[in-house]
Amino acid sequence: MKLLFIGDIVGQPGRRAVAELVPKLREQHALDFIIANGENSAGGSGITPKIAAEIFSAGVDVITTGDHLWDQKEVMELLVNEKRFLRPLNYPPATPGQGSGVFEIRNPKPGLQNISVGVLNLQGRTFMPPLENPFLAGLDAVKKLREQTKIIFVDFHAEATSEKIAFARMLDGQVSAVVGTHTHVQTADEQVFPGGTAYLTDAGFTGPHESVLGREIAPVIQRFLTSMPQRFEVAKDRVILHGAVIEINENTGRGMRIVRVMEAV
Ligand SMILES: [Fe+2]
Ligand SMILES: [Fe+2]
Repeated sequence: MKLLFIGDIVGQPGRRAVAELVPKLREQHALDFIIANGENSAGGSGITPKIAAEIFSAGVDVITTGDHLWDQKEVMELLVNEKRFLRPLNYPPATPGQGSGVFEIRNPKPGLQNISVGVLNLQGRTFMPPLENPFLAGLDAVKKLREQTKIIFVDFHAEATSEKIAFARMLDGQVSAVVGTHTHVQTADEQVFPGGTAYLTDAGFTGPHESVLGREIAPVIQRFLTSMPQRFEVAKDRVILHGAVIEINENTGRGMRIVRVMEAV
């Protein structure tokens, strides 16, 4: 089976890229399942039920998030009611919402029974707000998911490359793929580890790339020059969808191939 993961969707330009490019990518790569990080989809900060509905209707099956999860208060409704909406699993116990899910899809081979795909979302702790240990939480969650399926995709939302690589190496052979998000810069280190886990340190972001990580350039420079707070509006130009296509053996759950995606609107 083939899965597309889409890096952080930033604002309206990012949503437009998803709506325009997902149908094209689905056909081009014969995609069976699409996951997107939506933590910046509402004006660059957070997500609302209305925006999540827009992303789902563009063909995305599951939305993951990260540290910008809480930026819009309406997110609570998604956390409570939407099974296709994930937050980092390693928030304290009793936090609303879910950090993982198992989703059923049609088998790409006609006549064979449906496939279950596990999706797990975790957040790193290095240079980020402290949460529960994602390594311990990840091991535990993967063990539980593997009772239901061997096809497991992990969005590890983290800043430090060392934390991301160590995390993915720990799970090599236990999950089909680990792809990082959060830095908004696509890395060029896509590979399949010896145990069969496909890996990419960061998927990048989907939105305006004539920007600083999706925001207008001048206010960010001002912020660094003056150390004074600025309004960071979402930028407009050079809209690109960033992500990765991962081919997974549906019988063994092994990641077979990972290809970076960089598609302009
Ligand atoms: Fe982000
Ligand atoms: Fe983030």
